[in-house]
Amino acid sequence: MKRIICDSYEDMSRVAADIVEAQIACKPDSVLGLATGSTPLGLYEELVRRHRESGLNFSKVRSFNLDEYYPIGKDHPQSYNYYMNSNLFSKINIAAAYLPDGEADDPMSECKNYDAKIEEAGGIDLQVLGIGVNGHIGFNEPSVSYTITTHLTQLTESTLTANSRNFTDGEAQPETALTMGFGAIFGAKSILLLISGGNKAEVAKKLFDGKIHTDIPAALLHLHPDVTVILDKEAAGGISNLMIENAN
Ligand code: F6R
Repeated sequence: MKRIICDSYEDMSRVAADIVEAQIACKPDSVLGLATGSTPLGLYEELVRRHRESGLNFSKVRSFNLDEYYPIGKDHPQSYNYYMNSNLFSKINIAAAYLPDGEADDPMSECKNYDAKIEEAGGIDLQVLGIGVNGHIGFNEPSVSYTITTHLTQLTESTLTANSRNFTDGEAQPETALTMGFGAIFGAKSILLLISGGNKAEVAKKLFDGKIHTDIPAALLHLHPDVTVILDKEAAGGISNLMIENAN
């Protein structure tokens, strides 16, 4: 697992954009796995900027998002569909972009179809991940066992509390979500995990303490052969100089 510590959130976002750009340069028809939340907003802003100013071309790129609340309408301002359209898809020339359908009548068959679509696309080339304060990736919450396929999951109190900041008072917050499982995430050829902010310092520390904590889903990423973790200074607990090292 390669670890990059950046001085700022902006630097972290630029380094992440460099990796995404290099992926598209090497393979113009890349399949990207994408995350939502506050962490990748800077990355998406930088990708949009490079698309507009330097012609970064997404015309052959396809993407699959990690997760979507369930149930939620596509046009709901807190849906991940809405987030992705407003922050990225409407601003670039991406060939096709998929998210689990938060309005599906039959969530189980939606999950199966989603995995089938990922497989048909040849799997994910580069998976972008954020991390929950409890160590979740996608909405794979801490547990004694982890689900391989895309599935409907119950969000934990920790996640509901962390994400309640996005819902206004009185607005119903879904307590369940559709999420990619470990199969599609670990099937990705390479993985880019972004960790930002002081509230992630504790989980980041545990991620790099030399143990695989099975109650931190992200810690299992140590078992994947190609993972890059980019942290900003706050998440890294105050280490300020840009340093690249092999954390294993
Ligand atoms: C979102 C996702 C989640 C977030 C995580 C961190 O698609 O998969 O795992 O990456 O909850 O969210 P932020 O970045 O808002 O702290």
